[in-house]
Order: sequence, then C-alpha cells, then structure tokens
Amino acid sequence: MSERPSSFETVCWRDGAVVMLDQRLLPEIERYNTYEDAHGVAHAIRTMVIRGAPAIGVAAALGVALAATRTSGDARAVARAANDACDLLAATRPTAVNLFWALDRMRRRLSSSTSNDAVALRQALLAEALAIREEDIAMCRRMGSHGAALVPDGATILTHCNAGGLATAGHGTALGVVRSAVEQGKRVRVLADETRPLLQGARLTAWELARDGIPVTVIVDGAAASHLARGEIDMVVVGADRVAANGDFANKIGTLGVALAAAAHGVPFYVAAPWSTVDLATPDGAAIPIEERAADEVTHIHGRRVTPEGVPVRNPAFDVTPARLVTALITDRGLAQPPNAETIGRLAEGATP
Ligand code: MRU
Repeated sequence: MSERPSSFETVCWRDGAVVMLDQRLLPEIERYNTYEDAHGVAHAIRTMVIRGAPAIGVAAALGVALAATRTSGDARAVARAANDACDLLAATRPTAVNLFWALDRMRRRLSSSTSNDAVALRQALLAEALAIREEDIAMCRRMGSHGAALVPDGATILTHCNAGGLATAGHGTALGVVRSAVEQGKRVRVLADETRPLLQGARLTAWELARDGIPVTVIVDGAAASHLARGEIDMVVVGADRVAANGDFANKIGTLGVALAAAAHGVPFYVAAPWSTVDLATPDGAAIPIEERAADEVTHIHGRRVTPEGVPVRNPAFDVTPARLVTALITDRGLAQPPNAETIGRLAEGATP
C-alpha cells in the first residue's frame, strides 16, 4: 500500500460550514452532518458525533472559525463572537488537551490580529483553523513513520479504543503507526478491544481498518489479558488524550488494565500521540482531569437497559496509565523512550532522534 489519503473525511470545512462524519452511527450508517454554528459544533463534540483527542481539537478550531465567519458587523463583533465560541467549546469535554491546545491557538491568532477589518479577521481565523487541520494530518504521518520502525514484520498488534483516522483529521495516531507500517510493506494484524461502553474499538477501529484492507479482529475487553498471556500479541499501541510532563497519560477507560497485562507478560506497550497531546503544564497523571459521562452509556446498549433499575453505575471515560508501564511515547517529534521528564523535555526542545 503506498501513501494515500483517507477514504473518509472525519471533519472538514465545506461551503462555509463544518462537516463531520457522524461517528455515533458507524458502522451501519455513513452520514455526514453539516454544522452552521458553534453551538452545533459544541453539541457534536459533547455527544460524540466526533471524538478522539486530535479530532476534537480540529473540530473546535473550525467551530471558532465558523462563529467568526457567520458574524456580521465590525471586527469587534467578530472578535467577540470568536471569544464566546472559544468559551463554549472549551466546556465540552475536559480530558483531551488537544481541545484546549487548539482553542489557545485560535485565541492567540485573535489577539495577535491588529486589523480593524472584519473581513481580514474572519479570513485569519479560518486560515488558522484550516492550518490546525492540515498540521494534524502531517503530525500523524510523521508520528506514523517514527512508530512504524518499531513494528516487526508479521506483527500482531493490540489496540484499545479508536486512535485512527476517525480520531484525527486523517491517518491516525496508534492506527497511523499501523498504516505507516503497512505502507512500508510490513504484514500486520490488529486485535481491536471492543471498548465498552461506547464500543469505539468494535465499531470504529474495525470499520476503518477493514475499509483499508488491514486485517483486524475484534475481541471483548476482558479477552486482552489472556491473548497477551498466550503470547499471541507482539506489541500494544494506543493513543492518548493527554500526556503529562512526566510521561503518565490518560486514555480511554480500560487502557490501564491493558498496560498492566502487557507489562506482566513482557509485551512492549507504546503510546502514539502528536505533540498537541503533550501537556507540559500538567506535571503528572494525578493532575489530569477525568471526564465522567452519563450513566445511561453503561446502563443501556442500543437503547435497551442491561442493568437492573436503581443500581448505581460509574462511568469515568478515561483512566491514567503511569509512565513506568510505557515502553516508548511515539510523537511527531520522535520517540521518548522510556517516557519521563528528561526524554519528554528533550522532545520539547524540538529534538527528533
Ligand atoms: O471518548 P473518546 O472516544 O473521545 O476517547 C478517545 C480515546 O480515548 C482515544 O484513544 C484518544 O483520544 C486518542 S485518539 C488519537
């Protein structure tokens, strides 16, 4: 497989609006939704039409551009609308730092604009959002080629959740490593944890890999440890919603269990994340805010109740894995191997080993 663009668009700007593939409906229905205002984009992020840390950041940036381009009046009115959109979008999901990274960039673009010209300001904000989208694809591609070097030919790779093209503007983080390895001619097979409660592995990872002709097998979350114990898995690669300065990271609930099982059986465990996911202002995993989502995601499957009425449930969307369980952090700037304050600090200075 040579380098080729995704066969689907996760999120893009089309005819003055934001268009997203509705991930809640996959794999059965492939529907693109059009959003005409920032409220719609915020609602789409909150309700998981779009999800995955980098994709959330890109959608939010486009949401700010949308607010600016749809506001008539002078430059002050445009700036006010863009600032309000930043506040609105920042309140959607708390864990993925890419959201705040992208909104910070939009705010910086806004405050660096000296123009009193509303047209120029709208154009500048749209250009910034489109640049964030393009850069995300480029970061995934660079990360993919750094990571592909770690993939043995013939490898069976375990992944959790969906860290693919659907979780980014294209190519993916963990699945970007897989795609780049395939582009290099390596034969790989992916085991995808189904990822309860919202089944991002079963629905989304399986959908996008099958579509690209990459062999994928879905397993239930509880099966991962026994596949690792039986020596059937050569490496684990997952994405991240936030990587702290010491290398601890948050990712979809269940990632910690996979990391512990991989360590117990001596299987290398890699985290693939673009630099926009690394949060040097968060010292360690304990400081990462963890989103708690609605109970009905656990109590119901496809609208049908699966737990007894009245029994409480917990639904943290993410867990934190300590850096000591991670073999290497794969970024677009290179590897932090093992990830810790020193190796991440070197990447922060821009090193590409
Ligand atoms: O709740 P989600 O689906 O947004 O969670 C997504 C994940 O946990 C991904 O693994 C993470 O965002 C990395 S995506 C490249």
